[in-house]
Amino acid sequence: MKDLVLSWLDERYKLSSFLEWARHKTVPVHRWTIFYYTGGVCLFLFLVQIATGILLLMYYRVGAESSYESVRFITSQVEFGWLMRSVHSWAANLLIFFVLAHMFSIFVMRSYRSPRELSWVTGCFLLGLMMAFGFSGYLLPWNELAYFATKVGTDIVGQLPVAGGWLLKLVRGGEEVTGATLSRFFGLHVAILPAAATCLIGVHLLFVQVQGMSHGEDAKAHMPFFPNFVLRDLALWLVALNVICVLAVFFPWELGLKADALKSAPAGIKPEWYFLSQYQLLKVMPARILLVPGELWGIFLFGAAGGAVLLLPFWDSLIRARGKERWLDVLGWGALAATAALTVWGHLS
Ligand code: HEM
Repeated sequence: MKDLVLSWLDERYKLSSFLEWARHKTVPVHRWTIFYYTGGVCLFLFLVQIATGILLLMYYRVGAESSYESVRFITSQVEFGWLMRSVHSWAANLLIFFVLAHMFSIFVMRSYRSPRELSWVTGCFLLGLMMAFGFSGYLLPWNELAYFATKVGTDIVGQLPVAGGWLLKLVRGGEEVTGATLSRFFGLHVAILPAAATCLIGVHLLFVQVQGMSHGEDAKAHMPFFPNFVLRDLALWLVALNVICVLAVFFPWELGLKADALKSAPAGIKPEWYFLSQYQLLKVMPARILLVPGELWGIFLFGAAGGAVLLLPFWDSLIRARGKERWLDVLGWGALAATAALTVWGHLS
């Protein structure tokens, strides 16, 4: 019976060529092989987000008069609703942490170099999408913290020269953060971003499949992808699931008070940890540098840093051609240390 089904499928979909590919796919074994698991963990956490997000959607009702109430209903009335919300929030944070870890490990291994430039570029866009998921999702419970953090966050858009005012209105759906902002963020969070991220992850994985893993040429040994690497990947996913569940149960995500535009912002309002370094930099910029507002310099600095990271595979070859490779490490580790220091500073201040 099994052979009959397999041959029926094979006739139509060339299953044997897929099995042949799976049988021959290998993963290089060397001192950095452990880093190859970081991408898989990102993928797993993304799947957790999709699954828990769909479950939350069954009860979430978007609107300034219903968002907060529906989240309170989820956490207090729906069976295991509190757990799904807590898992969704913890996994979101872990996802961004692991995407950053995956990215930095690629940098350390220099895996972004030719021919993998576009794997790096698609990865950078994925990081942007994951941060947009975080920013848009933060507002959805319509609580006090989210409301004021979104107000501060979107204010930055308004600082941009020329199109700033127009962009601010586009993002907020008006002059202020209101129910219209909530609807926009909801559409972004549950439709546009998931569709874009799914397509981009597909392209990213396709590139990785077509080119194989980096360092294959100089590795002394290779392990079969099926089942050796996949089983190790799955074991790690199980560990990740356990960690998320322990965090979600012992540190359930708070809901806080409902947003109230008429109230003043509570003291110490801060964005999520992955936006803290940018936030702190903007906070400590002098009011004006060479007649230009400090905040604008700050925004320009992020833009330039983001552009430099995106185009790393292309300017890296120029640095190498001049024999200045060690500058790459100085730049990479320096950027990591500066970001970490600004994040800690932002958290403490
Ligand atoms: C949701 C986000 C992401 C997912 C799900 C994801 C997934 C993966 C997977 C499964 C692999 C193969 C295994 C591995 O090398 O770890 C991979 C490889 C790769 N990823 Fe990502 N990735 C993401 C984000 C990123 C980011 C932010 C970057 C860099 C900016 C990046 C750059 C790369 C590169 C260059 C490779 C090839 C590595 C090699 O051949 O050694 N990825 N990714």
